[in-house]
Amino acid sequence: MINELVEEQLQICIQKTRRNADALDASFPRFPHVAHHRGWDTSGDEEWKQLVNGYWTGGFWIGMLWLCHHLTGDDYFKDNARRWLQKLSPRAGARLIHDVGFLFYPSAALPFALTREKDLQITAKRAAYTMLRLFDKGRGCIPIQDTEEHKDVLAIDTMMNLPLLWWAGASADMAEAHDIARRHTEATARCLVRADGSTAHIARLDPQGKVVRLESWQGEAPETCWSRGHAWALAGAAHGLFFTGDAFYDKLLRTLWHFFEKNSPEDGVPHWDYSDSGGERDASAAAIIAHSLLLLSTSSQEREWAEPGLRLLQNLAEHYAHGVEHPGLLKKVCFHKPAGIDVDCSCMFADFYYMLALCLCVPDFRKQIRKLK
Ligand code: GLY
Repeated sequence: MINELVEEQLQICIQKTRRNADALDASFPRFPHVAHHRGWDTSGDEEWKQLVNGYWTGGFWIGMLWLCHHLTGDDYFKDNARRWLQKLSPRAGARLIHDVGFLFYPSAALPFALTREKDLQITAKRAAYTMLRLFDKGRGCIPIQDTEEHKDVLAIDTMMNLPLLWWAGASADMAEAHDIARRHTEATARCLVRADGSTAHIARLDPQGKVVRLESWQGEAPETCWSRGHAWALAGAAHGLFFTGDAFYDKLLRTLWHFFEKNSPEDGVPHWDYSDSGGERDASAAAIIAHSLLLLSTSSQEREWAEPGLRLLQNLAEHYAHGVEHPGLLKKVCFHKPAGIDVDCSCMFADFYYMLALCLCVPDFRKQIRKLK
């Protein structure tokens, strides 16, 4: 059953990605970020002007093109992936911002494991250096940016930028990367993970790393749990365990998983914030978690995670996947509820993690992806 569903959904992923790539040609290099009913919205009002340089989501589009190339062997996808990556790659060594992990893990590090093309490794390493330079020794973490306004901000989102560092430490000969990723995770566990396993979004830290105050930018309130933030943390812990096998990440993963399981609706697709049980769902949170558990389950000691990963993926495929006519793959993604922006849409990062989760059900892909480390 699940195999047929996976096969059918992967065919749809490939078909839509080709159609999207054709359609986006006219507005190249505006990166697709959000889709409503008429197509990927690349119009870029004040809010989305970063779309031109890829915002924090441009790497997911490139990642989807690489996945399609891997599945089909069709150079159409590879040529497109390279063309878009050429536009994004200057950002790997530019501003010190945690988003380089979101940008270059899917677009360069992960495709390097699939293609072994050296320039992808070079780009991903450059981005990893940028992230290492952002590490603040006093605060013991990677802040979201090095600017005056943001250098004290520890965000839960950063956990899913860390896979770039674990990849760099494991396969790109950057010895210090695992240590920095571990120290950042320790700071996250200390400042943002609560005793009940829920997570806060933002901690403002003093120069010694003590919490000055908690905030929430995308969740309901400082004391609540924003579901996508929680998914970033859980997926980050799963990647830490996948790349290092360290029991520290195992413990954190189980703590975060326990909260997720206990507080999510039966289908595993949480409301945008766990405090709002009548509010919008966020399918991206489930896709982020599903793919990370399926990746983890490729390690022989971690097979137990395959079952919950597959369960989540099956629910997404059966109840949250758009029909072929819509440009996006997953519906019911809540991008930014407090700002009232795109609270029920398709988002490129959700589509990427959904497609990656589907790929992680394919035996050959599961074998190949072990080359990440
Ligand atoms: N910055 C990551 C997110 O909005 O989920």
